[in-house]
Amino acid sequence: MNARGTWALAAAVVLVSSCLVSISTLAAVAPGDDAPQAPGTLLETGLYAAAAPGEIDSSNRPFSPQYPLWSDGAAKRRWIHLPAGATVDVTQEDSWEFPVGTKLWKEFSFGGRKVETRFLWKATPARWTAASYVWNGEETNAVLAPQGGVRQVVEVAPGRAHDIPAVNDCAACHGGERLRPLGFTALQLSTDRDPNAIHGEPLKPGMVTLETLVAEGLTSPARPEFATRPPKIATRDPHTRSVLGYLVANCASCHNGEGEIAALGPVLRQRDLLRDGDAVARALVNQRTSWQVPGAPEGASVLINPASPDTSAILVRMRSRRPSSQMPPLGTALRDDEALDVLSRWIRSQAGGYQ
Ligand code: HEC
Ligand code: HEC
Repeated sequence: MNARGTWALAAAVVLVSSCLVSISTLAAVAPGDDAPQAPGTLLETGLYAAAAPGEIDSSNRPFSPQYPLWSDGAAKRRWIHLPAGATVDVTQEDSWEFPVGTKLWKEFSFGGRKVETRFLWKATPARWTAASYVWNGEETNAVLAPQGGVRQVVEVAPGRAHDIPAVNDCAACHGGERLRPLGFTALQLSTDRDPNAIHGEPLKPGMVTLETLVAEGLTSPARPEFATRPPKIATRDPHTRSVLGYLVANCASCHNGEGEIAALGPVLRQRDLLRDGDAVARALVNQRTSWQVPGAPEGASVLINPASPDTSAILVRMRSRRPSSQMPPLGTALRDDEALDVLSRWIRSQAGGYQ
């Protein structure tokens, strides 16, 4: 990298760390304290085959969560590496325990160009290492991003740019004390895929699913019901199912009834959604929120307001891209219009109260 590039990165680090301070404090423990350092280049993480440059190593298997995270319209590819002979401990429904040596990658492309590849590596029994790799303009090499992230790596709309998050900010979504994968879960890998998932993509041949995990004996205990009765968000109405699926992927990493914000905003627990999604949806409708919706009467703001849909706090904060009010608070610079449309229609359909 030339001197000017180095300076630009250093400036970016300062900017990112100053404006995201409040979010970083969400992470009780920053990853990396005693976790091994991430390698300096993406190549060294083992994503690609040693003998065939640019080709994914065959021990790294592609997967696709049914409800993707919105990242300013990035096209994404994801892979997992499980050490040979090891299994995933699926005893706890909401939090699987991965074998040491597990690696996951997520590649982000904008306008057909690779921009960053994120990396999670369970390097020791207690610690995950998190990192992101920045691609060069020719897409020939990706190097470790600085700890503070990189601001404005690519323009995603006129005057709007995508940022690579700081390593501490990975923990804001991927867990406080212990990081965890978010798209490699029973619900996300279920073969009962939601045909209405917002920005959902079809499974491609060779992708790991809950069914292939069970068939290959990679879960412990075996859990054959994952294949015979694949989990789904239990709602009577398909529209509600897709709305809850979107909220799970985009909000539940923080709004899951635990941690510092347990009492704030929607409470979206995967296990509740699988048991009775309708009850979760019902709890959002007319639920008071301490966040004051601009223009709403003092103390009368609610998460979902069928009587006045546009004043629903969830919608207002999803629509905003002001740092102080936008939701999610990081990882996105453009609002998700398709999701806003689906959510608005759903809220309108609740005019008679959630049935
Ligand atoms: C705004 C919340 C958020 C932030 C910030 C975030 N992630 Fe994620 N990440 C997610 C969600 C949700 C998924 C699963 C859905 C998807 O992949 O579309 C995911 C998926 C991933 C995956 C694929 C494996 C998995 O968990 O399913 C990797 C690897 C990953 N993230 C790494 C990182 C790294 C490294 C950082 C920090 C540089 C980071 N993420 C920051 C929310 C976040
Ligand atoms: C990275 C973590 C994170 C993610 C992801 C996230 N939020 Fe939040 N949310 C917060 C924090 C922290 C607060 C409390 C501070 C504030 O209000 O800004 C909050 C507050 C809220 C509030 C106000 C709650 C109250 O009663 O004060 C609403 C509504 C909300 N979020 C909605 C959402 C929605 C909808 C999504 C998904 C589209 C989402 N959030 C995703 C961290 C997150």
